[in-house]
Amino acid sequence: MSTAEVTRSTTTVGIVGGGPAGLMLSHLLHRNGIDSVVIDNRTRETIEHTNRAGILEAGSVRLLTETGVSDRIFTDGYRHEGIELRFGGAGHRIDFEHLVGESVWLYPQTDVFIDLADARARDGGNVHFGVSDSSVAGVTSDAPTMSFVDAEGQHHEVTCDYLVGADGSHSICRAEIPREVGVHHFREYPFAWFGIMTEAAMSAPELIYSHSDHGFALISQRTPTLQRMYFQCDPNTDPTAWSDDQVWHELDRRTEVPGFVLAKGPITEKVVLRFRSFVCQPMRYGHLFLAGDAAHTVPPTGAKGLNLALMDVKVLAEVLDRAVNGGQTSALEEYSPRVLERVWKAQHFSYWMTSMLHTLPGEFATFDTARQVGELNMVVQSTNGRRFLAEAYTGWPEKR
Ligand code: PHB
Repeated sequence: MSTAEVTRSTTTVGIVGGGPAGLMLSHLLHRNGIDSVVIDNRTRETIEHTNRAGILEAGSVRLLTETGVSDRIFTDGYRHEGIELRFGGAGHRIDFEHLVGESVWLYPQTDVFIDLADARARDGGNVHFGVSDSSVAGVTSDAPTMSFVDAEGQHHEVTCDYLVGADGSHSICRAEIPREVGVHHFREYPFAWFGIMTEAAMSAPELIYSHSDHGFALISQRTPTLQRMYFQCDPNTDPTAWSDDQVWHELDRRTEVPGFVLAKGPITEKVVLRFRSFVCQPMRYGHLFLAGDAAHTVPPTGAKGLNLALMDVKVLAEVLDRAVNGGQTSALEEYSPRVLERVWKAQHFSYWMTSMLHTLPGEFATFDTARQVGELNMVVQSTNGRRFLAEAYTGWPEKR
């Protein structure tokens, strides 16, 4: 129960959302001597056990390792120098290292979160998980507030210089931006992903993105004994209605090429992930800044969501540093245009990968499936095509 007394405090940056975006921002601000308070209505345990994506761009890895968040990436993660595009009964490797001199790392978002939460705890960060009744107010004033009831039932009101909404796709902060200011761009897709976690061996050294007459499948990984896989399904699919045999049948027939055997084991999780493309533009309103999924979501096909969130807060930390420590408040105006350029590149890439690889329902489905094979051949048979994909997948260089 909340006590009647309200604990009032002040901070420089109030951050709603303690996922990777919020925690990374708090960490980067701390390194610049800037105080912040982070709140999240989920418990630490809930976030740690919610499986999300698993691929980090080279730039995300540099951000996490060079700022002292995690060395575990290098010991527990896996460097992937490419992916396989599978279609028309054959696999085609896209060799990132050879094409663009970069690679990506397989390192699950849950581990990124654990490393960040540990780093914040180690450095004495003010992070409240499991809060309730959170709200924000006064985002156009120069003293916005963040209110919440902490896990012990104590009511808090924090007066901030700046507020950051890193509170995911159902953001309460985004709702503070009038719709005539923050335009919502979105697109839905007529399919979803059926995701599984399975206690099986790795079927291949790298990820396999597979186009087939039966729909899309992705063979991803976690550890030598735990694998993550997905296949395209109807958005209204009930995952509990599917037997393991049905799941394996779908995955087998969508990844079939001569000599390939999909390693199987007990399935420990079945989920259906609906996805859409979304951008709220601009990502700033008064003293409020949006970061990560609160501002934009992408379909998972390009593995861009977490990477975009980390790049948002890298730029946000830099402009807040210039404003708070350098007195240069005009730097804050750079945030939205600078990050949105990358956001829209990632929107296009995720849309492109999605629409190239998934079966499109409708009366032109057979035309589209054959056309997609034409498109995939254009990509894999051309060095320029492969390089275009490699450059986007590994992450574009940061623009200053
Ligand atoms: C994952 O491992 O969960 C994963 C990997 C690549 C994607 C999406 C998800 O494009």
